[in-house]
Amino acid sequence: MYKAVLFDAYGTLLDVDSAAANLAASGAYPSLGEVWPDLAALWRSRQLNYSWLRSLSGTYQPFWEITKDALDFAMETLGLDDQSMRNDLLSLYEKLDAYDEVSVMLDALEKVGIPAAVLSNGNKEMLEKAFSAAGLLSRLSALLSVEDVGVFKPAPEVYELGSTYFDAKPSDILFVSSNGWDAAAAGLFGFHTIWANRSGAAVERLPNPPDHIAFDLTYVESHLSELSR
Ligand code: LAC
Repeated sequence: MYKAVLFDAYGTLLDVDSAAANLAASGAYPSLGEVWPDLAALWRSRQLNYSWLRSLSGTYQPFWEITKDALDFAMETLGLDDQSMRNDLLSLYEKLDAYDEVSVMLDALEKVGIPAAVLSNGNKEMLEKAFSAAGLLSRLSALLSVEDVGVFKPAPEVYELGSTYFDAKPSDILFVSSNGWDAAAAGLFGFHTIWANRSGAAVERLPNPPDHIAFDLTYVESHLSELSR
């Protein structure tokens, strides 16, 4: 059995689209009404692009700074020039919705006695804010952040933070991500991997495809019960 289960944060436990979706639903900004899905998608894709580009160019900045830069790019691209909308989106990003199945899945892990932790691009402050707002902080044994290595996923030293923290061989760790490229890199490092393919995306053409492909996080519990049978 595994020594620990590590989860990606953004997109896996926390719904990154919920900031734009919730602000649009509030009705405070009619201009967001139809455009919010484009805004959420562009914000997320630039956020990831900037993390990779900054890793390659050796210009690390905390993920929160990158998240703000990506939002500015996305808002300008879509012609949304509104400082108060920007502030509201950022404050909602600090308290993103957790996906519905997260709480029940963490209960199941607790029941079988396997520690659950987060391994994320997020810097510690933003992770603490988000998981405390979601009411999940006390149920996670660690929030491991790339901040400690100054480079983003998929650098192998990021995944190493997980095996070092749990003093475990990579193969004794189950890594779960909804980002196909993240699951692939974690597998390359040696973790056992589940890709929660929430959007029904094609498999990334990268080394080390995921060991398991699931729809969402409910699969974690069934995978563990299969192993203990
Ligand atoms: C994270 C990004 C990749 O939480 O979603 O690490």
